[in-house]
Amino acid sequence: MTFRKILLLFIVFIYTVSYSQKLPFNGPMAGYNNSSQVSVWVQFHKPLKARITYYPLNPGSNAKHLITEEQEAKAENAYALIFQIKGLAPGTEYEYEVVSPDITLPNPVTFRFKTQPEGTKPFDFTVATGSCCCLRDKSTGKGGRMYNSASGYRIYNSIANQKPDYMVWLGDNIYLRNGEWNSFEGVCYRYTHTRSLPELQKLLRSGHHFSTWDDHDYGLNNGNTYSRSKDFALDGFNLFWANPETHPAETKGIYYNYKIGDAEFFMTDDRYFRSPDTLQDGENKAFLGKEQLQWLVNSLKKSNASFKIIAIGTQYLNPNPEPRKEGYWKDYNTEATYLINEIQKEKIEGVLFLTGDVHYTVLSRLNPPGFYPVYDLTVSALTSIQNPFFGTKSELRMPGTFVWNHNFALLKFSGEENKRVMTIEVRDKWGIRRWKRKINASDLQLK
Ligand SMILES: [Fe+2]
Repeated sequence: MTFRKILLLFIVFIYTVSYSQKLPFNGPMAGYNNSSQVSVWVQFHKPLKARITYYPLNPGSNAKHLITEEQEAKAENAYALIFQIKGLAPGTEYEYEVVSPDITLPNPVTFRFKTQPEGTKPFDFTVATGSCCCLRDKSTGKGGRMYNSASGYRIYNSIANQKPDYMVWLGDNIYLRNGEWNSFEGVCYRYTHTRSLPELQKLLRSGHHFSTWDDHDYGLNNGNTYSRSKDFALDGFNLFWANPETHPAETKGIYYNYKIGDAEFFMTDDRYFRSPDTLQDGENKAFLGKEQLQWLVNSLKKSNASFKIIAIGTQYLNPNPEPRKEGYWKDYNTEATYLINEIQKEKIEGVLFLTGDVHYTVLSRLNPPGFYPVYDLTVSALTSIQNPFFGTKSELRMPGTFVWNHNFALLKFSGEENKRVMTIEVRDKWGIRRWKRKINASDLQLK
């Protein structure tokens, strides 16, 4: 065996050991970032004190290791911590470690996060996305009817292998089971079970993650504002996601906006304020609710992003939701029409929808007269059940974009200023591309 082969084998061995060693925490997962700040989530398995130590990877940088304040993982926060790391250099990649006097690792294990560049010059980046992450739970015997046991969990590594800069989770990111949503402990149990999945760790440790929710993260199937357990779900969501906090402090729910370069994500809450699906449509039937809707319209008006992406847990563009009858936004027609009318009346350019929930993927397009085409990219499911009958015959569906198999999407933002493009790639659990479409920023402008 040549020296080069021995060296190669040694490198593979070290790599395998460092990745296969079972770490005494779930994640870490980098969350929100801007040009000077990053949040990092991590969950331990026991009470302990921990910090994050970090340093920039710039060539020639002689910056010292920096370290965060110590935080305490406790049973009452499910041993989950979120570190807000401030004062970072813009456009810089950092290496970091999770450190604790109570943890000894046989090998140092490092992770990476990035800050966004400063200024208005657009840069290229990739956002992965998907919805409906249902896992089997052998320990409780509650497999959940929404789990598809045949498919496995390789999709999460397939997403990580694409090396996305971001991953936006579109809801049903966990599947609360009967009885779990009635207590904070139950909600934390389900989050902990999901975050402990070995096949998820590589993805959690890749890129930056942010999310909205849908009914299965919120509680009862098709839950609404009258859910008595909604604040348990809210507390759990805030404990397990390191999202930015931008919505008005006086209102609850989980909505916020997040600017990444020249794409701005408007992450909406389709559950906390929602009227029952069965209520007669009209002025008083809320989907997002008046306050959130007003926040959304105002935020869209203020945004100068080339792509203004409204992310909702529920599909938006589907005029024919039969036969599921599970509360598509079009069942809330008064509010849905109000939003699309406001976007047109205020001449807000660059808007498109990004949605999940329905156990199939499709790109839909509405052509409002005298306006640019409005797209809704629905991406579902990651690992929950699939059913070909969930796909309904919507006339807004674009040919060749329906995918029934487990899948995820990549949104690749690229191009020179004023020629920006969002390329959508939908890939299956093997990472194989099923379709690709380009949407130019200019396609979403008024002529
Ligand atoms: Fe859902």
